[in-house]
Amino acid sequence: MNPRSIILDTDPGQDDALAIFLALASPEIELRSIVTVAGNVPQPLVTENALALLEVAGRTDVPVYRGADRPLIREQYTAEYVHGDTGIDGAGLPPPTAQPQELHGVHHLIEACLSAPAKSITLCPVGPLTNIALALATEPAIVDHIREVVWMGGSIAGAPNTQGVGEFNSYVDPHAVHIVLQSGVPLTMFPLDVTHQAILGPDALDRLRRYDTPVTRCCVGMSEFYAHHDEDRFGFEGAVMHDPCVIAYLIDPTLFEGRRMRVAVELADPDLLGRTYASSHGAEVLVMFEADSDRLIDLFVDRWSSL
Ligand code: RIB
Ligand code: CA
Repeated sequence: MNPRSIILDTDPGQDDALAIFLALASPEIELRSIVTVAGNVPQPLVTENALALLEVAGRTDVPVYRGADRPLIREQYTAEYVHGDTGIDGAGLPPPTAQPQELHGVHHLIEACLSAPAKSITLCPVGPLTNIALALATEPAIVDHIREVVWMGGSIAGAPNTQGVGEFNSYVDPHAVHIVLQSGVPLTMFPLDVTHQAILGPDALDRLRRYDTPVTRCCVGMSEFYAHHDEDRFGFEGAVMHDPCVIAYLIDPTLFEGRRMRVAVELADPDLLGRTYASSHGAEVLVMFEADSDRLIDLFVDRWSSL
């Protein structure tokens, strides 16, 4: 089967980093490029992190494009309290030697989509949707070239992880969520309801330690640091693999179960701005609710240890 051609739009972030490694390690995926978005930490950190992660994996052939510096309307909100000041604390990586591409990430998204055959390219945003929204608003014709947008973000019935309101990616740029929902693009959503079933626990970390490669050492260091916040907040026994779920779905969709429903994002109530919810007035979305957690974690360890 031909590999799935994807562009990863990301705000590294430890779980973003693990999604990047998973994509690089998987023959089912053709990672065409990375576009960065301000999210977990600001620009240029998210761009420098993406470059450094590609270097440790020996894949500086994958081009990195710097995207949006801030949300569309809302004041920037970042998550150093979860990810550390670098955004990938625990990775232990040197600064990158490579540079991002000259072209802005949003313009790259537009050019890459328009030059792709109809319904052939998959966009995988695992951060705030700022870049995707800007690309769709700037050139709506890209919808015809997009096979699917697979987004880690939002929460339906899952406990919020940001300010008691909603999920981080949706909270940071709710107006971008609305633009993407209303665009008509085929959207598959991985909310907290399903990603909170993807916990990288101590047994998996022990399995990774046995390989002792530069990438597995990076995976273990990042996971150990990044687990603390959600362990304290939710009582999990390990780090939540939010973003790798998106890539795992493209590798093996049988790992997840979901259903089509109409979803909207709160834009009016300032106390609930960014909350996503089921609504008859919303856009149709394929929302994932169940994960085969054991098979999912086995896939992660198997693929990361192969890099
Ligand atoms: O709420 C979790 C999501 O927000 C993940 O994508 C994490 O990396 C942050 O971007
Ligand atoms: Ca992310």
